[in-house]
Amino acid sequence: MMKLSSFLCALALVGLMTTKAAVAAPQRISPGEIWPDNRGEHVQAHGGGIIKVGDTFYWFGEYRAQDNDPAKRYVGCYSSQDLAHWTFRNKVLQLSDPEHLGSPRWVLERPKVFYNAKTEKFVMYMHLDGPLQPGGRDYALARVGVATCDAVDGDYQYLRSFRPLGQESRDIGQFIDDDGSAYLIFESRPTAGFYIAKLSDDYLDVEKVVSFVHAPLEGGGLVHYDGWYYLIGSKMTGWKPNPNVYAISKSLAGPWSEFQNIAPPETNTYGAQSTMMLKVAGTKATTVIFMGDIWKPKTQWDSRYLWMPLEISDGKLRLPEPRPWTMDVETGEVAFSNQFP
Ligand code: GAL
Repeated sequence: MMKLSSFLCALALVGLMTTKAAVAAPQRISPGEIWPDNRGEHVQAHGGGIIKVGDTFYWFGEYRAQDNDPAKRYVGCYSSQDLAHWTFRNKVLQLSDPEHLGSPRWVLERPKVFYNAKTEKFVMYMHLDGPLQPGGRDYALARVGVATCDAVDGDYQYLRSFRPLGQESRDIGQFIDDDGSAYLIFESRPTAGFYIAKLSDDYLDVEKVVSFVHAPLEGGGLVHYDGWYYLIGSKMTGWKPNPNVYAISKSLAGPWSEFQNIAPPETNTYGAQSTMMLKVAGTKATTVIFMGDIWKPKTQWDSRYLWMPLEISDGKLRLPEPRPWTMDVETGEVAFSNQFP
């Protein structure tokens, strides 16, 4: 008979092999489906953004789990080394009505995290909003909130909220240029457009407008790829999808081109709304991923993600029809479902 210690050893080995096999298996990125994290729960990182620290991607977004305390708003953080397997790290921010609006209708949306190398702090921006008094009009506060932390996935400390450069700010997006400079993209209704604004040295403030793009859009995202800046955004239809659009410029300061559709307009961006474009520079290819949200306003915990590699070159950008795909983050190469073995 096998001794208990040998049996346990064999069991551990089998366990190890299974874990290895699970990690090694190429996992498809399937737009629109449930994306289980390491706990088997659908990833809660809506309206999110991704930063890379070392060889790890960290995805932050609205954590809208069904069992949330309804008085609080949460930001979730997940990590991955291949953009397909996501490990839940922490609810990095848990806030209770930080601006004392006194209304249950206050919101924390579209959190984005930057790493400041000078201060060695992670700095989170978020859209904070709500009625100015109980019973008042929704989305009237129109501010950004800022929180910081020493660790990427630690408990962030809320610092303050403000209107960047004195402007109303609703949807926000983040952009880090090739030289490492950090920008906040924010949507301002009274001036009907996107601001692309540089953050201060410590990232705790929004310092300078680099470009104002006169187009009533939201869900802003920006990428610099092969000599062109591509700016994307969605029309203003709340949670309902619409044809998302893009403009290009040789310089971040503009001038920007006219906006064009990123997908056939009748698909309404295949049901998604832009939140970010993620550039993955590999050894063989540079891939730009469109990250969008497929919102389910009545069951937000079940809102889905539409991520697809963009077809992008010579100032043209196109979101291809969603289908499962895989990515090798080392080489930057992608494969689509019709090429799978
Ligand atoms: C969308 C916006 C979302 C959320 C929603 C509320 O247009 O992008 O982040 O604010 O409106 O209706």
